[in-house]
Amino acid sequence: MIPIAEPCLGPEEQENVLEAIRSGWISSQGKFIPEFEQKFARYCGTRYGVATANGTVALHLALKAIGIGPGDEVIVPVLTFIATANAVAYCNAKPVLVDVHPEYWCIDPVEVERNITDKTKAIIPVHLYGHPCDMNAITDIARRHNLYVIEDAAEAHGATYRGKRVGSFGDINCFSFYGNKIISTGEGGMCLTDDEALAGKMRILRDHGMDPNRRYWYDIVGFNYRMTNLQAAVGTAQVDRLDNLIARRRQLAIWYTDAFRNLVESQVIRLPPEMPWANNIYWMYSILLEDTFGMSRDELIGGLKEKGIETRPLFYPLHLMPPYQGCSPSAFPIAEEIGHKGLNLPSGPNTTREQVAQIVDCIASSRKVQ
Ligand SMILES: Cc1ncc(COP(=O)(O)O)c(C=O)c1O
Repeated sequence: MIPIAEPCLGPEEQENVLEAIRSGWISSQGKFIPEFEQKFARYCGTRYGVATANGTVALHLALKAIGIGPGDEVIVPVLTFIATANAVAYCNAKPVLVDVHPEYWCIDPVEVERNITDKTKAIIPVHLYGHPCDMNAITDIARRHNLYVIEDAAEAHGATYRGKRVGSFGDINCFSFYGNKIISTGEGGMCLTDDEALAGKMRILRDHGMDPNRRYWYDIVGFNYRMTNLQAAVGTAQVDRLDNLIARRRQLAIWYTDAFRNLVESQVIRLPPEMPWANNIYWMYSILLEDTFGMSRDELIGGLKEKGIETRPLFYPLHLMPPYQGCSPSAFPIAEEIGHKGLNLPSGPNTTREQVAQIVDCIASSRKVQ
């Protein structure tokens, strides 16, 4: 099977984990946690990192830190992994879904502005599949309407917007280090911020709400959202690989784009976007199948699976699924089209040029059979 993605782990990760085990610091204290937090925050161009158990709780922690609660509205793209909206729901606030931009598939700033009400407190731009959002437009809207920006950069480690790394634009910026992400700690996440007070608040909330100066004293209800030293031991070594892993994904995208030239010229497929102001890190190389392809996306996924090629459908737009049906009355034509036509191809760092040729041949010949 050619996998959709796989982690890239080596002797440095092994050595760090062994060191953590030998030291006895295997829970949420130990030297690797601050080391990983500082290293990753520095990489992204922010001052503070707060490591968490996973990316979903990083989002929840960020929203709690800025005080999101019942009655508040948070603007979320309708095309994203469900965790983005779930984190808002965990706060008993309302995720207000908005459509994505047809050219680059991320939250559309025009739709954001159109959906602001007097209850809106925050916007969560999601850098979908590794392509940055239009952050100047988003931060400008936020400034004019006095809203927080929480970047969901779970899929976009190291992607840049106008030359600046994502994860450095919002008030708080959240990452995931799940096994299929650009870098991984198994499960894991992090919140980045330049705001010392928000970083402090998140550290307290992450540790059950415990007063940092008085052990076992709690003024608020917090969570156990801590990362372990074992996870951070892996993470700190992973940061050193990040540039290389991004370069490998960008190389893979060049191979795919080259191999797909005929299918693109025949207008049967569309390739993943990269706007002139963006550096896409292609966490997933996603294509859209036009109706002229002559076969449905799900049929193609089934056919490729039989040939040993693992693919995934693009996310279903959130408003189609029971928890978020009726959340927003509007239609979402762009997200529906992309969600319906899109599939992710094997995008892992070990995918070879020969495998790319094999995958593209299989896709092209599936079409001929029709
Ligand atoms: C856009 C987005 N947000 C949030 C998450 C949640 O991260 P995790 O799986 O680490 O909880 C993910 C990933 O899986 C994601 O893709």
